[in-house]
Amino acid sequence: MMQRVYMDANATTPLLPEVMAAMRPWFDDNFGNASSIHFHGQRARAAVDHARETVATLLGCRPAEIVFTSGGTEGDNLALFGILQSGGMLQPGDHLITTAVEHHAVLHAAEHLRDRGILVTFLPVSSAGVIDPEDVRRALRPQTKLISVMMANNETGVLQPVAEIGRIAREADVYYHTDAVQTAGKLPLDVKAIGCDLLTLSGHKMHAPQGTGALYVRRGTPLEPLFFGGLHERHRRAGTENVPGIVGFGKAAEVAMAGLDAGIPSRTAALRDRLEMLILQSVDEAGVNGGEVPRVANTTNLWFDHVEAEALVIALDLKGLAISGGSACQSGATEPSHVLLAMGLSEERARASVRFSLMKTATEEDVDFAVALVPQAVARLRELSPVYAKKTAVTVSGGGLHD
Ligand SMILES: Cc1ncc(COP(=O)(O)O)c(C=O)c1O
Repeated sequence: MMQRVYMDANATTPLLPEVMAAMRPWFDDNFGNASSIHFHGQRARAAVDHARETVATLLGCRPAEIVFTSGGTEGDNLALFGILQSGGMLQPGDHLITTAVEHHAVLHAAEHLRDRGILVTFLPVSSAGVIDPEDVRRALRPQTKLISVMMANNETGVLQPVAEIGRIAREADVYYHTDAVQTAGKLPLDVKAIGCDLLTLSGHKMHAPQGTGALYVRRGTPLEPLFFGGLHERHRRAGTENVPGIVGFGKAAEVAMAGLDAGIPSRTAALRDRLEMLILQSVDEAGVNGGEVPRVANTTNLWFDHVEAEALVIALDLKGLAISGGSACQSGATEPSHVLLAMGLSEERARASVRFSLMKTATEEDVDFAVALVPQAVARLRELSPVYAKKTAVTVSGGGLHD
């Protein structure tokens, strides 16, 4: 069978065996609706409560401040719409500050709010992909209701100065949300240190099932729900709880904490750095997007001039290596990444950029596998590029090698 190495953990991660084992009974023997008052319901409620406590420990908050959701997209939408609609209605003229490099779950929600009369500031980033906290301060207005800045970028892994922004938000008395979907399990998370009122998590980025997640909502934060129905999740998210999913998410949070204690991020960073170094040693006209600033340990975004990212992703997939071009959520779309464009990359270079995102179970052998394939695949694609062929032909004849 063909060897396959998966380096697309930022798109999704597999269930860990212990997560699967924790979930399994809740699909059959331990069925029950957590709202039922009988034995079955009480048992399901206890499991949900236990998961809530574990997720709260991961974030350093109270269990009652956790709202279980269907994932990152719902968490982000609940945060943005929930705050801007608090009081029951959107108030045209209210102001939202966010960034140009957010995941589409925030970006498209913000654009939708803007279409409905909310004023939105999309802050720019430096060429390394980082926003200037002073830009947040300067963007504040009396009508600013919410600041939403992601913690780690899904495409580059670049970290934003979220704690500094938290201090600015607190001084200005403005609600503050951070999308920490790509940070959980990769860095310790502490909502008090960040100073946020809302924080989004997604289960499938941390070895829990797809369609699970949580939103931290600081006590006292007014939040209009997105769904209306039962009184679940303290009126913040109607709908029968996904008990198996919540149990799996709780288990994944427990495993994530243990992994942080065991030093997995520094091990992953060493592998990522080796991957970068070895690839860049053997490929010219290539580099790292956002490599000069702090990033989460598992992510690197590399550009290879004269190469189409899509073609490289396909060529590597045929050899057994799974990576991604731009964000996976955009796959199928030919638009260059909005994140890379915001960092000032040309459209051409943005289209020549790919993301490697290592799983926490990545090994030296995985890195060797990628290093054996990538330079070769890049060279082959460049041979097919008319611009590159012309350029190298000039270099070669200029060097007199054809004499
Ligand atoms: C930073 C970020 N936010 C939000 C999401 C959306 O999460 P979900 O897939 O759980 O809806 C993603 C998924 O790629 C992400 O990377």
